[in-house]
Amino acid sequence: MANAPDDSTRRDFASYYEGAKGRPPRPTLVQAAAAFARPGFAVDLGCGDGRDSVELLRRGWRVLAIDASEEGIGRLGRRDDLPDNAALEARVQRIEAADWPPADLVNASFVLPLLGPEAFPRVWARIGARLAPGGRFAGQLFGPRDGWADRAGLAIHDRSAVEQLLSGYRVERLDEVESDEPTARGKPKHWHVFHLVLAMPQSAAQVAAGSIG
Ligand SMILES: C[S@@+](CC[C@H](N)C(=O)[O-])C[C@H]1O[C@@H](n2cnc3c(N)ncnc32)[C@H](O)[C@@H]1O
Repeated sequence: MANAPDDSTRRDFASYYEGAKGRPPRPTLVQAAAAFARPGFAVDLGCGDGRDSVELLRRGWRVLAIDASEEGIGRLGRRDDLPDNAALEARVQRIEAADWPPADLVNASFVLPLLGPEAFPRVWARIGARLAPGGRFAGQLFGPRDGWADRAGLAIHDRSAVEQLLSGYRVERLDEVESDEPTARGKPKHWHVFHLVLAMPQSAAQVAAGSIG
């Protein structure tokens, strides 16, 4: 399929889950969740084995967790830190094919670049369309100096492309970070990552008042 992630990106994520096992929730997710006065309904796109979903559940959120990997969703369901009576719905589904009800929070940690340049704009538009007024997005995008930027089928965004995506949101976090750290699979990698927390305005009046980044 044109512009689909290549085999190395698409390969099964079992070794990723094993390498990332026990890691804490992403700081972007924690920041976004902490910005709400009370828990609501969250969608966790590319949830993997649920490091972010479980944090939301722990904080009392209702969570729809979506991942293309049966292995990831299976591991989420078997986590021993899932709270009792967790309000969790978990789906094995590709994000490109997924839809969901209006949400207070859409989280997508380290997954949107994997959608590729063709699907990314549609999914980005859907995220915005499904965020309730006052809702938030948390997640990451990859920049052009990322070690994977020349892999076939990844959606890569330079600073100006990222800034265009922020239109209509209030920017609560835009950290552009370059670092050299091993991947969860233990491979050396240069990372060029944009960490985002974005808020959907409560009303058009806020946009008109110029409070939106
Ligand atoms: C790098 S892992 C990130 C997992 C988790 N969000 C985290 O931060 O640790 C990427 C996850 O996205 C999932 N994924 C990749 N492409 C996907 C797609 N097109 N639709 C749904 N899930 C996808 C993988 O199965 C994997 O669980």
